[in-house]
Amino acid sequence: MNFKRVVITGGAGFIGANYVHYALETHPDWELVVLDKLTYAGNLENLETVMSRIEFLQGDIASPAEASQALRDADAVLNFAAESHVDRSLLDPTAFVRTNVEGTLVLLEAARQAGVKRFLQVSTDEVYGDLHGTQHHSVEADPLRPRSPYAASKAGAEHLVLAHGISHGLDVVITRGSNTYGPYQYPEKIIPLFITNALQDQPLPLYGDGSAVRDYMHAYDHATGIDAVLHRGVSGEAYNLGAREQISGVQVAEAILAALGKPASLKKFVADRPGHDYRYSVDPSRAEALGWVRRYSFEQGLAETVEWYRHNRGWWERVRQKKEHQNLMQDWYAQR
Ligand SMILES: NC(=O)c1ccc[n+]([C@@H]2O[C@H](COP(=O)([O-])OP(=O)(O)OC[C@H]3O[C@@H](n4cnc5c(N)ncnc54)[C@H](O)[C@@H]3O)[C@@H](O)[C@H]2O)c1
Repeated sequence: MNFKRVVITGGAGFIGANYVHYALETHPDWELVVLDKLTYAGNLENLETVMSRIEFLQGDIASPAEASQALRDADAVLNFAAESHVDRSLLDPTAFVRTNVEGTLVLLEAARQAGVKRFLQVSTDEVYGDLHGTQHHSVEADPLRPRSPYAASKAGAEHLVLAHGISHGLDVVITRGSNTYGPYQYPEKIIPLFITNALQDQPLPLYGDGSAVRDYMHAYDHATGIDAVLHRGVSGEAYNLGAREQISGVQVAEAILAALGKPASLKKFVADRPGHDYRYSVDPSRAEALGWVRRYSFEQGLAETVEWYRHNRGWWERVRQKKEHQNLMQDWYAQR
């Protein structure tokens, strides 16, 4: 499938920005439009080096007028825009339903009216729910059993996307990516939180006994996986994207402390997240069958990510100084 004018929603966030950088290198002929509301998680610094090569629109995917304007003459839409942090969805789920569910619906309607060739929904492995106590790797035909408000809102969005494919003949594909890390990630998520805390000699908060396992995937690999599904995925299908890794929170903390030469005593076990899912694991065979090949092992990806945060101290110090970050640290971690 070929595209010319491509709309990336949420392109000023973590994975969206990584995809924008990748797409500009790989598809230099594309006209790239980024639609982003610039919530607390959106950061124009993530796009600073490419601003002259994209059309940036500040706007809300849940606004029919702003969505329609962004999608005018578009061939494809990639919907990265979301409220993305599970802990925030436990504190206040309202914005998650508004953006992740309602926003996706508004965008689907705008895509239908614009006559786009393809709509790609960026979803998550969290829609499958907890695999704790099993050896199972989720496959795309598995039922969706979301357990957090965040995961529920992403699952709701998926159903709307598939329903638009069936009911209206819109060409839709879905990616279900695993936990992602890499440059430009907002330092509320575990890996950048731990790296930036360690760089400031602050404790690394581990939920419960720190045994929860995730399949950590580098953002570059997540971007190439999305691109493979965009170009070669079958309409109406979902595709797992994961790195075939199983890494616990304790292992993440220890790897980061070792990389930075910081003491193991910075690990701090805190009260568990309510309803915490202890294991996610996806089988990415279907995406691999499209020719998707990952570049990063966890060791190499983490080493490069630690270096990125070491060299971009101004980026994360500015983010951590903002009230949205301070409030989360206060409302969530100070109580634990
Ligand atoms: N981070 C992960 O580990 C992970 C894993 C799998 C899937 N995902 C999914 O990938 C996507 C991107 O995640 P991320 O970690 O980059 O998120 P992020 O929080 O870093 O970025 C989200 C971006 O969306 C923008 N946004 C939020 N609400 C908006 C709205 N109503 N209209 C327009 N823009 C809006 C924000 O300003 C921000 O730039 C999300 O859909 C998320 O569910 C994330």
